Amino acid sequence: MSGIIVIVGSLNMDLVVRAPRHPLPGETLIGSSFQTFPGGKGANQAVAAARLGAQVRMIGRVGQDAFGDALLATVQRDGVDTTFIRRDPQAPTGVALITLDAAGQNTIVVASGANGNVSAEDVLQSVPAFEGADVLLVQLECPLDAVQTAVQQAHQAGMKVVLNPAPARPLPPDLLRQVDYLIPNQHELTLLAGGIADREQAIRTIQALGVPNVVVTLGDEGALLALGEDRLFLPAYRVEVMDTVAAGDAFAGAFALALAEGKSPVEAARWGNAAGAIAVTRPGAQPSMPTRQELEQFLKERNSR
Ligand code: RIB
Repeated sequence: MSGIIVIVGSLNMDLVVRAPRHPLPGETLIGSSFQTFPGGKGANQAVAAARLGAQVRMIGRVGQDAFGDALLATVQRDGVDTTFIRRDPQAPTGVALITLDAAGQNTIVVASGANGNVSAEDVLQSVPAFEGADVLLVQLECPLDAVQTAVQQAHQAGMKVVLNPAPARPLPPDLLRQVDYLIPNQHELTLLAGGIADREQAIRTIQALGVPNVVVTLGDEGALLALGEDRLFLPAYRVEVMDTVAAGDAFAGAFALALAEGKSPVEAARWGNAAGAIAVTRPGAQPSMPTRQELEQFLKERNSR
């Protein structure tokens, strides 16, 4: 395994306000602070994997504006290869409006901007990104035809395909058949299974559509692995929660990195759980991602208890 990961996904500037609670429709609340952080599910997962030691090649778009400059600079600082990220001539860089309540729980509204113009053509023009890579990691903040083209490309090349179906939307069976690992949360799992709320039944429904492995992230409960017929529950590590933004991205990035290094899916999910646990103790999306040393230290400490 080469440890090379291709990511097709979004880059957003996160505009984050802390408030005592989430506002009701029509209500104005006075918050306590405002900060901007580099975010976007694609870029967060790219940084998560890169900080843990992966070689990451990212395909995506930002605008020709200050947010675009800043986002490119931050992912580059973490060693992400941005050769295949385009500057969109028309659309602005994506932004995410995020409210964090006192418990660190978030609500997010995204204005996709340039992310909405990532196309199948962009992926086809980035074919060299797939050369020698082990894993494709994709989410759903970019148009579906770009995701589908990337999945097809990776599947044909014999790469492992990992799909984090966020934000949730129904997906064509054609696409699902080419996915090796699906990483939904409970809400995304239910939606993809056509509204089935029962976890096991929803997993079976998705597996029947051709996805062999489903890893359900369950927030502060942990993660449930459905690897073919096998089931394994990994409880979450207990930590003090400060900011839940990008916890799922930390999980997905760490999971993909571990797979790209040849670790088993169970070990990969342990890494995902640990990365998510560390990320929620820190503010911001990309700044919260652990380094490899931090993650290995965390696993050592927690596993010796
Ligand atoms: O998953 C968290 C991310 O979702 C944020 O960084 C925000 O940009 C949205 O894309």
